Amino acid sequence: MKTYEVTKDIKRYRFGSPISTGAVVVSGNEINNEDIQYLAFEIDEASSLKYTMEDKDQVLGLGENQKGIDKRGGIFESYCSDEPNHTPDKKSLYGAHNFLLMDGRDTFGIFIDYPGRIVFDIGFSHKDELEITIEDNNFDIYIINGNSKREIVNKFLKMIGRSYVPPKWAFGFQQCRWSYVDSKEVEEVADNFIKHDIPCDSIYLDIDYMEDFKDFTVDKERFPEFESFVERMKDKGFRLIPIIDAGVKIEEGYETYEEGIKNGYFCFDENNEPFVAAVWPGKVHFPDFLNRDARKWFGKKYKVLTDLGIEGFWNDMNEPAIFYTEKGLQSALDTVEELKDRNLNIHSFFKLKDAFTGLSNNLKDYKSFYHNIDGKTVNHDKVHNLYGYNMTKAAAEGFEEIEPNKRFLIFSRASYIGMHRYGGIWTGDNYSWWDHILLNIKMMPSLNMCGFLYSGADTGGFSGDSNAQLLIRWTQFSIFTPLFRNHSAIGTRKQEPYAFDTESTQVLKETIRLRYKLLPYIYSEYMKAVRSQDIYFAPLSFEYHDKYSRKVENQLLAGDSLMVAPIYEENAVGRYVWLPEEMLLWKASKGDDRSYEVINTGHLFIEIDYDEVPIFIRKNKMLILGKHANRVEDLDNTELNVIAFIEDRANYIYYDDDGKTYDFTKGIYSQVIIDIEKIDGDYKINIENKGNKDLKKLNFEIVDTTGRVTKKSVII
Ligand code: GLC
Repeated sequence: MKTYEVTKDIKRYRFGSPISTGAVVVSGNEINNEDIQYLAFEIDEASSLKYTMEDKDQVLGLGENQKGIDKRGGIFESYCSDEPNHTPDKKSLYGAHNFLLMDGRDTFGIFIDYPGRIVFDIGFSHKDELEITIEDNNFDIYIINGNSKREIVNKFLKMIGRSYVPPKWAFGFQQCRWSYVDSKEVEEVADNFIKHDIPCDSIYLDIDYMEDFKDFTVDKERFPEFESFVERMKDKGFRLIPIIDAGVKIEEGYETYEEGIKNGYFCFDENNEPFVAAVWPGKVHFPDFLNRDARKWFGKKYKVLTDLGIEGFWNDMNEPAIFYTEKGLQSALDTVEELKDRNLNIHSFFKLKDAFTGLSNNLKDYKSFYHNIDGKTVNHDKVHNLYGYNMTKAAAEGFEEIEPNKRFLIFSRASYIGMHRYGGIWTGDNYSWWDHILLNIKMMPSLNMCGFLYSGADTGGFSGDSNAQLLIRWTQFSIFTPLFRNHSAIGTRKQEPYAFDTESTQVLKETIRLRYKLLPYIYSEYMKAVRSQDIYFAPLSFEYHDKYSRKVENQLLAGDSLMVAPIYEENAVGRYVWLPEEMLLWKASKGDDRSYEVINTGHLFIEIDYDEVPIFIRKNKMLILGKHANRVEDLDNTELNVIAFIEDRANYIYYDDDGKTYDFTKGIYSQVIIDIEKIDGDYKINIENKGNKDLKKLNFEIVDTTGRVTKKSVII
């Protein structure tokens, strides 16, 4: 084991010679060996780390996973999985995010940089023991120290590099569904949004747009004259976002396939032949995204579609998902042969059944193909968690060549820490279940701690049938998530915001409009978080240190000024909330109605109607609110409202930039610094405008702790 000092508060412990994952962007200096036991970790030969937890210890982090913000009591596996049933017993979903934040006796962060399987047993087998088992002897462990959870997360985020920034339009509402079968249907969706006057910035193209599920092709019959279709949709105000899948169809004459074969860009089997698996199109090869040249090649293929006017993509099935392999299928068919004449009993029946259910995403298959990493042959199983990451890196590198200073929208299903620099993630195939709203709420801060700021869930649920109420309640939470997309599976009940009754359409329209009104705040908070290595969604315990805030799992801080407390139970007329301090409650509903209530510290039940979104403004904080528009680019933010809850003084930095380029990295952005001070019952407002040329007027609604509202306007 070698020890490095990465920065003053971060140590890296290197075991063996790990494969470079690219997760960490700073390197350290080797220092004298230091025993990892200084943090009460015991480490044994089998690469298992043990830590004894006290009752008060909490374990946060682990990104995309089941269970709570506090992971204690659970067992988790880092092994990117195409897992469409997110039931509580599932150990692994699509991402592998090996960062834990310990909080209790010792407060520190730990990141295990190893791209194969890791098991995190967080008091599941033994209630007081945290055991991390790494399936190999070559890995890096980073221990991050700091004075608070936020500080530790900030240091970790700094170490792994700046989070991805999408174009501003990608903060608008987005509509998706698997089964918009042709351009006519996509246009109908667009027309429905226009007809109902519901804001929407983009419509997704799922696998239906491709010719026989082949990447970088468009079905010419169902989507004729694609380029003018893209143009027509843009004229109507919608960007189209096509899906790209990891598997490349094996088909002679298909360009992507031919190029991949010719150049040896596909993953290969033990005989050095391109590895064959089956996904949507039938048999496919997997591009070797871990091979630099192959990655470059695949990244450039996105140009086929950007040349036709496309500005955003979603990368899917990149764990990689495998329906079956020839070997696996053969063995299942052999089982059929073996059992076909039998009177099946408990053993033989399940043997037959399991022969087929075990066909997909089988570990044996993941162990049977290889990558070429800088000339070295590496078994896929050892680097499994880097696959989706490098597919998304391929896309990002491709975009950089296509138009270096342009922000493209890109997000992925599979991921590993490090990928957060190249794209966002969505949380995969959830269900139209109330429980999955709550899972979504709990997952967001955990994802943020791992660098994934641009993320969100399939609003309304992917599998299963949504009803109007579920979609309304889910949308009321999703208006706060940076990625805000309604998506559903083929064969399920339609769930576009206009798919239910007139009253629900109206409520959904107002809710989505609220998102557009909140955008000046959401974008400002997102960008400030990205630029200062901070998170956008935080657990309450990041700011409040009382015993209840440590335990709250169903309320979140969204940016610096707001606490959100979404409804995630059917037929609820309100919910219980914990107020760690006095806050200002605005039950946002239709139109521009604004009435506020000062809510005292404590546990209480607040009533919330179906059409209301409870927004809590923290004390001495402010919310910036614009007018809605039907597209992000049409937002008129020349005049903004500021809702402030002031006890004595508040300060807010309203950030903005062009929303299109990376010029913000060169210091080209604006900041409006707003300071409100209460003096003798009145307010002194100080505004310093650093470069915002659009803003002309700010209208203030300042509420004091007695609930008195003072209105003022300031011309900028
Ligand atoms: C996968 C994706 C889902 C998509 C479907 C068809 O299940 O997770 O979002 O709609 O594939 O492409």
